[in-house]
Amino acid sequence: MTQAKEETLTTSAEIFGAFIERSWRSNAERQLAKGAEFVIGRREGVYMWDVEGERRLIDCGAGGGVHALGHRHPEVLQALRKALDDGRDTGLWSVPNAEYLKLQDRLAELAPKPSLNRSVVTLCSTLSVDLATMFAFRVTKRQRMLAYRHGYHGHTGFAAIVTGSPEEGIIDHYNLPTHASFLENFGDTEELDRLLTKEIAAFIIEPMDYETFAPAPKAFLETASRLCRERGILFIIDETRAGLGRTGTLWATEQYDIEPAMLITGKGLSGGLYPASAVLMCEDIYEECMNQHRFAYISSLGGNEISCVVASQVLDVASSPELLENVKSVGAYLSGKLDEVCQRHPDILTKVSSFGLAISIGLTSRDVGRALYREIFAAGVLCHSVSEIDPPGLKLFPPLVLTNEQADEVARALDKAAGLVARGREPTRKSA
Ligand SMILES: Cc1ncc(COP(=O)(O)O)c(C=O)c1O
Repeated sequence: MTQAKEETLTTSAEIFGAFIERSWRSNAERQLAKGAEFVIGRREGVYMWDVEGERRLIDCGAGGGVHALGHRHPEVLQALRKALDDGRDTGLWSVPNAEYLKLQDRLAELAPKPSLNRSVVTLCSTLSVDLATMFAFRVTKRQRMLAYRHGYHGHTGFAAIVTGSPEEGIIDHYNLPTHASFLENFGDTEELDRLLTKEIAAFIIEPMDYETFAPAPKAFLETASRLCRERGILFIIDETRAGLGRTGTLWATEQYDIEPAMLITGKGLSGGLYPASAVLMCEDIYEECMNQHRFAYISSLGGNEISCVVASQVLDVASSPELLENVKSVGAYLSGKLDEVCQRHPDILTKVSSFGLAISIGLTSRDVGRALYREIFAAGVLCHSVSEIDPPGLKLFPPLVLTNEQADEVARALDKAAGLVARGREPTRKSA
């Protein structure tokens, strides 16, 4: 029997301890092993403080894009507060509301291709991927998906089935049906050609390598788009992380000559304040799936009024020329500064690659990456992660509102961390 505990958890250590005792132990232990014992207290913009209010970190993980606009973006916060003060709540799923329509219209207006003029709003990208897969099964009358082996699209339903990563995938763990084939090599057009068979309903792919942040090669995505069209396969672009300005354009898709049948957005669409995601799609798919069954897709909370208000505000900020310009200029500035650090530590750092503000610092090994992650955390920067596949890289995914001064702080922290890690690899310290 679980009994309610009479305890106040105030410190990071107490909260970690309680998690290990009676909650998601394996996750808390994973954070500890990474050297990231941290529980968020106050947060604002690119900064987070621990619950003790003593440590301040620059958030260069941004929850994989949830906090793409920084923590508690003032305009998004204001829109949320106003919606609540105006007397709104989630509304009723079955009753049309203007905010839903407004968000759909805004998504159609901002879509990377005019054909993506319809959308379904959901609570998170996992649900959007799930829905997009069901739509693909109906439209094509096929039941098999193709995805990238090291990609990630979510952890329940059909999203889990297209997440085949050896590290984060859970197909074997839950003994899930195997309704997907996997492309082993990101960017390999020949392999793709072989795998896009007549059984495949849809090919789902991020426009950047999930593990390394390398942008999808143009020829690869453009061939994928063409082959899918020729073979009656739906081409689904998952812009959960790459969208909303991350790569310097509102959608990464804008940088390619492709025609996706569906596009998924999420994470940052929530403003980090209220869950929201959406599947953008062509009108014919929408009509066939949503309007040929009276209960085609019911979600009590998906597309609720508050989330639509928040998501519309996020789109306004993310599509603004100021934000997109900031991504390009700070992205270039930060990459340049990090490259200088790489040149100072050639024994452990190689070179920087970036896709807007998705940045990877090349490493001589993954072990170096783990040590760096720990040291840079101690120096005040929370990184996204260390890539699990080659080339080894320490990855940064900072909020898009990062300034040059904050970029300098990140570069200084890397320099300090790299110095410590490089010294730790010298023979004298090794044998100590
Ligand atoms: C590319 C991609 N798609 C889908 C998802 C699932 O999103 P969520 O966990 O918000 O449902 C994620 C989450 O990391 C993601 O990175």
